Amino acid sequence: MKNRLILKPLKKGDIGNIMNWVNDPEIVKNFQNFKGFTRSEELKFIKKILKSKNDRVFSIFRRSDGKYIGQCAINQISPQNKLGRFGIFITKENWGNGFAEEAIGHLLHIAFSKLKLHKVWGVCWVTNKKAWHIYQKLGFKKEGILKDEYYWHGRYHDLIRMTVIKK
Ligand SMILES: CC(C)(COP(=O)(O)OP(=O)(O)OC[C@H]1O[C@@H](n2cnc3c(N)ncnc32)[C@H](O)[C@@H]1OP(=O)(O)O)[C@@H](O)C(=O)NCCC(=O)NCCS
Repeated sequence: MKNRLILKPLKKGDIGNIMNWVNDPEIVKNFQNFKGFTRSEELKFIKKILKSKNDRVFSIFRRSDGKYIGQCAINQISPQNKLGRFGIFITKENWGNGFAEEAIGHLLHIAFSKLKLHKVWGVCWVTNKKAWHIYQKLGFKKEGILKDEYYWHGRYHDLIRMTVIKK
């Protein structure tokens, strides 16, 4: 695995970086529950996440210059079933450098080796060809299509649900 990135656990001080993208429609349309956040709402959310035992959120930094380039997470961790839901975001100016692929690789390592999960799952729009391409490269398999799972801009959209299971 490449080693250009550092994943650091989320902290309150990341809020400035997060506010730069958390209200950008092109980014957040990809996340079902992002409906626009003020700074104080975001801070409340960060505090909630920091207390949660079922969420592990990481800020992604470039090793070469320490610059913030995104966020990734395993959420909805089920200790009984040993599964969790992953999510990824890379800042626009850093797209196309293989950073998402590398960050998800690190995230899967954390999920399987440190959190001892059995299964990691996620969803993406059926139209998000770029995300689906990366997930397939990393070994995710399609579990099915979630019909009309996401209501956005006046109509329903289908999502792909995908999974990678610990080998
Ligand atoms: C999706 C996202 C995380 C990808 O980040 P990234 O760092 O640009 O991705 P990478 O550089 O690691 O990989 C891009 C890959 O997609 C391919 N790709 C780019 N556009 C594509 C398209 N339209 N169709 C298919 N593949 C495409 C690239 O060729 C590359 O694959 P390759 O390395 O095999 O050539 C980023 O665009 C993002 O944050 N988007 C907004 C949030 C989001 O959609 N998150 C995922 C929600 S499920």
